[in-house]
Amino acid sequence: MVVVDWDAVDMVCSLEFWRMAVCWTLSLLYSHLYLLLAPRLSALFPSLLGPTPPRFPRRRFAPGPSSPIQRPLGVITGASSGLGAAAARALAAEGYHVILAGRNPQTLTKTIQEIKKHDQNACVESFQVDISSIYSIMKFESSIKQWLEESNLHPSIQLLINNAGILAKSSRVTADGFDQMMETNYLGAFFLTNIMLPLLKNSPVPSRIVNVTSFTHRSVSHVDVNMGNLARENLHCLSTLGKYQFAQTYEYSKFCTLLFSYELHRQLYVMDPASNVSIMAADPGAVATNIMRELPPSLKRLAFLVLGFLQLLQSPEIGVDSIMDAALAPPEASGRYFFGAKGRTIKSSPVSYDARLAETLWLTSFKLFEECKARVVNQ
Ligand SMILES: NC(=O)c1ccc[n+]([C@@H]2O[C@H](COP(=O)([O-])OP(=O)(O)OC[C@H]3O[C@@H](n4cnc5c(N)ncnc54)[C@H](OP(=O)(O)O)[C@@H]3O)[C@@H](O)[C@H]2O)c1
Repeated sequence: MVVVDWDAVDMVCSLEFWRMAVCWTLSLLYSHLYLLLAPRLSALFPSLLGPTPPRFPRRRFAPGPSSPIQRPLGVITGASSGLGAAAARALAAEGYHVILAGRNPQTLTKTIQEIKKHDQNACVESFQVDISSIYSIMKFESSIKQWLEESNLHPSIQLLINNAGILAKSSRVTADGFDQMMETNYLGAFFLTNIMLPLLKNSPVPSRIVNVTSFTHRSVSHVDVNMGNLARENLHCLSTLGKYQFAQTYEYSKFCTLLFSYELHRQLYVMDPASNVSIMAADPGAVATNIMRELPPSLKRLAFLVLGFLQLLQSPEIGVDSIMDAALAPPEASGRYFFGAKGRTIKSSPVSYDARLAETLWLTSFKLFEECKARVVNQ
């Protein structure tokens, strides 16, 4: 008997599915072609295209004997699976003290056990946090502070990797009142970063924020950043005819993450060099993880099959390279978009470099941040 997967049929009949299948594949192909052709085309038309974005070699943390930080402390959100777990393994191997941040204690413990299986001496901790809840983020920060104090460690962190993310198929509203995909992928990272900034700034050695974004940001063309796009009261902006525009919302969340990275780079690295904080954006490319867990399994298999056939699909161990490149690059790479491993950077979409748009997004997000924080404090 043939069993029809009506969920998959319904999705294939949607515009969002085709947007994902066509626009995202083209965006990914564009990024790979850029890697391949930019150096040659820049050499041919230097005045038209400008210089090729540089490569940045990784640097190992090398503390002096009197440095108050002997082992840098790195926090990774969404470290219970996929790229986050791979980044935790790679950072532990680099000698970092790694804090795995995630919402599920069981999967976090499993990741720690796997890391310890390979390296008994790895320094790894797990802390619970739901990135789509400002209350949980505030609790997370105070737990970290308390743990630093109790462990007699310097009250600072050296690295924050905002990696947690979802590709939600349906519209859900968080306790803070936002679209769940927007809060998990962008607003939560914005809130967490602002809450963790004092600990990053307090580092006696240069510290770093890495925001994990995606090639899908290239599909965002018409951009209107305002409260309506981000806040609860106008959540319906993200959907029409009762259908959730999951592909557009995902792209938009990753686009906002990129604007946020560039704006933070301007505010900290450029305007406030004394802060000693650098900010990188990292795009892992297409990676075989659980990110499509909400999609019908048959479509997920099909996507992996097509991406594999096009030789565009990577394992988490390979995909994590651009994140690790961003985490370990020298500070002067701040404000760059890492893609394609080997320390390579490329240009993101032209509209993502719109500084005024980034500033508007920052101000809007910061207002929401203050409102949410005040709500939690007054509860
Ligand atoms: N895979 C790709 O092809 C690809 C391409 C470009 C960019 N990215 C980005 O890479 C990042 C990592 O994704 P992945 O591919 O590794 O997918 P994944 O395997 O699904 O991992 C996502 C991680 O985020 C966590 N997470 C989700 N919601 C959370 C929340 N509210 N609070 C805390 N943690 C939460 C998940 O934890 P649970 O296990 O508890 O759900 C999981 O650990 C995402 O930002 C994604 O957008 C992925």
